Amino acid sequence: METVKIGIIGGSGLYKMEALEDVREVSLDTPFGKPSDNIIVGTLDGTRVAFLARHGRNHHLLPTELPFRANIHAMKQLGVEYIISASAVGSLQAEIKPLDLVIPDQFIDRTSKRIATFFGEGIVAHVGFGNPVCGNLADTLAQAIKNLDFPDIDLHQGGTYICMEGPAFSTIAESNLYRSWGASVIGMTNLTEAKLAREAEIAYATLALVTDYDCWNPDHDHVTVETVINNLHQNATNAQKIIRETVKLIVANPFESEAHSALKTSIFTPLDKAP
Ligand code: ADE
Repeated sequence: METVKIGIIGGSGLYKMEALEDVREVSLDTPFGKPSDNIIVGTLDGTRVAFLARHGRNHHLLPTELPFRANIHAMKQLGVEYIISASAVGSLQAEIKPLDLVIPDQFIDRTSKRIATFFGEGIVAHVGFGNPVCGNLADTLAQAIKNLDFPDIDLHQGGTYICMEGPAFSTIAESNLYRSWGASVIGMTNLTEAKLAREAEIAYATLALVTDYDCWNPDHDHVTVETVINNLHQNATNAQKIIRETVKLIVANPFESEAHSALKTSIFTPLDKAP
């Protein structure tokens, strides 16, 4: 099978990378079932990359229904070492406005119905997750955004992403609670991916595309799917430019990530006793 070092996971609004050439659609099976969709392997400015639409190309999967483990396993099977994840988020802070870009460096888990580990069933492991995002990959994403220089769009580097279960959006009380925790943005998927990517020793970073002010801001309407989609259409093009530039920067300056050796110090079960 062809191997590919860079994986891209596109969220709501980003179902395709227009610039991909020499495209091959790969249908993979994993011990956790099939990924959300076929993975599209194609060439981006001379580099082979793997693209997966997180919710499926027709957006038919709820966050809770996502085959997170199959998605990350499939990326690992392809040889992926870096995952760039693009995701729509709501803003929890006034200065983070719709259409802005955030590169979170922390997550808070508010999910309740997901399996966010590859371990269990005889093998016990606890990976370090204090720094859940690959700092080098996050810096590379930020550099790509600076190189492209978007007018009227601010980059917020760092910040906490609340990962909620959904599918309903938050209540005002929840939104204000997260604000009181100092969180920056809210979404429904990225923490689960980040945990599994870490266990799979894949460097992971999120490009969060702000679509709304959730429901806490009295000066703005509460989030609706319509607002999310309208704003995402506007910045799906930007997301593709940013990902393209990020891939160029990774290829020009490949880097090691702590994530690449995450299992070295994390497995309890003696491997000769594993089932
Ligand atoms: N994705 C986009 N906007 C969101 C919000 N307000 N809450 C959760 N997920 C989102």
